[in-house]
Amino acid sequence: MKKVIIIGSGIAALSAIRSLNEHTEIYCITKDKLNTHNSSLAQGGICFSKFEDDDGLSHIQDTYIAGNKLGDMTVIEPIIQHSHEIIQQMIEEGLTFDKLVDKHNLDFAIEGAHSKPRILHIGGDQTGAYLTKYLIEQLSSKDLTIYEETEVVDLLRDDSNEICGVLALDKHGNKTEFLAHDVILATGGYSNLYPTNSNASTTISSGHIIAYHHQLPLRHIEMIQFHPTLLGTKSDTYGLVSEAVRGHGGFLVNEFGKAFMKNIHPLGSLAPRDVTSRAIFQQQTEGHQCFINIEHIEHFSTRFPTIYQNVMSHFPNEYHNHLIPVTPGAHYTMGGVETDIYGRTDEQHFYVIGEASNTNFHGANRLASNSLLEGLVMGHLCSQAINQSSIRDIHMTNSQSLSIPKMNTQEVERIRQLSSEVLGIERNGHDMTQYLNDIQLCLKNSTVTTQWSKDDWQRYVAIKTLEMVCLSALNRNESRGVHFRTDYPNVQQTLQHTDIEILMEDIFH
Ligand code: SIN
Repeated sequence: MKKVIIIGSGIAALSAIRSLNEHTEIYCITKDKLNTHNSSLAQGGICFSKFEDDDGLSHIQDTYIAGNKLGDMTVIEPIIQHSHEIIQQMIEEGLTFDKLVDKHNLDFAIEGAHSKPRILHIGGDQTGAYLTKYLIEQLSSKDLTIYEETEVVDLLRDDSNEICGVLALDKHGNKTEFLAHDVILATGGYSNLYPTNSNASTTISSGHIIAYHHQLPLRHIEMIQFHPTLLGTKSDTYGLVSEAVRGHGGFLVNEFGKAFMKNIHPLGSLAPRDVTSRAIFQQQTEGHQCFINIEHIEHFSTRFPTIYQNVMSHFPNEYHNHLIPVTPGAHYTMGGVETDIYGRTDEQHFYVIGEASNTNFHGANRLASNSLLEGLVMGHLCSQAINQSSIRDIHMTNSQSLSIPKMNTQEVERIRQLSSEVLGIERNGHDMTQYLNDIQLCLKNSTVTTQWSKDDWQRYVAIKTLEMVCLSALNRNESRGVHFRTDYPNVQQTLQHTDIEILMEDIFH
């Protein structure tokens, strides 16, 4: 029987499990609980452009334009077209999206940078939670073993040097080996490196570091999307205020009531996320506070129940004045391990899907509600590829032990706290060069050893990822999408991809 390991438990992982055929022994290894992931926090929804009568064309164009024309049309087109059949099938199987008051037609919402309403949602603003719950309910027919609170730290190779499993740390920090014919990595992104972020877990995703240790190319690591509207202020945030709130009539204002987006983009408060986050950042730099004005939204508490509860817990007075305080925070990483739409990498039997991958679907800025879509499609396509592959014999040689540098806790925290300032919404070469020196000094001053704990692993992942982001950002001498360099404020059309393999020299392995 074929054995497949899936690392992670977000939408990409769940979609992959759902589509693996019945003769598969599946192991799902997740660093947290099965339902602790960013997918379950997704509020706005999932794009569904099947009924637009243009074969997805306008959705494809919106994705490409929002991505600042860095995305790959040969990737965008098939992902969107596959999404039509997959979502349609789930609806036919019984997944219920919110309907209009006629209780018959689907209620399509609009979000930033979309040319038309095409976003399906469930429970108002609980799309991710319901969608992942639905997928989890479907897993009961599978031959599935779940390992929670277990963190994968390395890949194992067999006698012929092919990938044949993973090395993980269980919840007590004990090392365990898992063997399999195929490994799917679906560990999500690394936005939680930043002190202010919208992510579910405090544990930094490490899939890109694991792949890097095996010399797999990573692309666009500098491309980190800041969601314009986390609930809160620059110093304290409390999760997302979905872009759907602005799609529903909310608009951005400062403390004087000035609708500052009007002069910045023709779409106003529904401009692409990179533009909106920068505009809010600019307001804050000038000393202003930013809010979403919701005076025109009827039935707010029932259309957005999660957001309503959250706002009432933290800002009831502002809510009664129809204002929701907002600030940008790291949200989604477009960069990741280079793959095709099936999640295939340069290594046979090793796949990367969802946010951990980079198919170049999103380009330099992800279009709202395209992330659940990408995870769903890639999970399905990846499992189709695995279903069609033949089984081989696996013979493991003795596994090597992984050496990593043990880093100083205070120094790692100090460097991490600076990430928003140096690698945030605005960047510049001078500060990034100094920061990179700091990071590399921290790496150099640590002892490389095979004796390390889960916490050592997390500290190393944080610093190594920051080094990658910094190198990659320094290498992109232009401003495009989420990557804005004050010293290179224009787009440089000839500059396309940043590939971390070329930029990094040292491999601690
Ligand atoms: C939102 O609801 O604004 C977040 C969903 C997404 O990132 O697409």
